[in-house]
Amino acid sequence: MPPVVELTAVSRTYGEVTALAGADLTVQRGELLAIVGPSGSGKSTLLNIMGTLGRPTSGTVRIDGHDIGELSDRELSALRAGTIGFVFQAFHLAPGVPAVDSVADGLLYSGRPLRERRSLAEAALHRVGLGHRLHNEPHQLSGGEKQRVAIARAVLGDPPLLLADEPTGALDSRSGAVVMELLHELHAAGTTVVVITHDRDIAASLPREVRIKDGRVEHDSGAPAAPVRDEVVV
Ligand SMILES: Nc1ncnc2c1ncn2[C@@H]1O[C@H](COP(=O)(O)OP(=O)(O)OP(=O)(O)O)[C@@H](O)[C@H]1O
Ligand SMILES: [Mg+2]
Repeated sequence: MPPVVELTAVSRTYGEVTALAGADLTVQRGELLAIVGPSGSGKSTLLNIMGTLGRPTSGTVRIDGHDIGELSDRELSALRAGTIGFVFQAFHLAPGVPAVDSVADGLLYSGRPLRERRSLAEAALHRVGLGHRLHNEPHQLSGGEKQRVAIARAVLGDPPLLLADEPTGALDSRSGAVVMELLHELHAAGTTVVVITHDRDIAASLPREVRIKDGRVEHDSGAPAAPVRDEVVV
């Protein structure tokens, strides 16, 4: 099976600013890893590119074996919808919308009927321990509960890859621990999980830590072994 993510010499500039400067990163299926690094070092840019929300200025991005440089925007959206779930620090839940509908909206473009989407959404909310909060709107939920709703939405279609950008950044340590437990459970159930964090304890508690500095991978505690290639003897 190809790596779920394979970034080779990925650079990204915004005008004069270099956000990524030749980053290499391979993530195998089933991994759980932390991405750490100073503010402005390029972590979110890296995650957005892994999530195909942005394209690199140069370098190669392969997701599940697909070179995204060879895909149209439409094909890329389809790949993203079927492969990747996102969780952000700020939850991104629409005000006034009950949890079950926020989650069901995660499958808006799946072509499934509303009833089926809602019943899947209820199951996902039970899975994150919010079976008793199905009809609460965001203002009726704690921060930790909001993040669990966002996670339920992200994993509704059972994507193999979950990308989380500081998912505990807006939470107190107790709610943050609940969210991390949930990410561990999803990982144990087979999801590949990538977490950006500023929290050293969280980073240290994950099996692999990738440190970003100045738009490059400065240190990788657990880079998987390079694939064995057949040697061609000339
Ligand atoms: N859309 C954009 N337009 C212009 N510059 C950007 C844009 N996005 C990011 N940058 C710049 O690229 C660099 C890397 O940003 P990025 O958001 O990836 O950092 P980060 O490591 O996630 O930081 P933080 O820990 O503060 O979230 C920064 O200098 C930032 O100002
Ligand atoms: Mg960031």
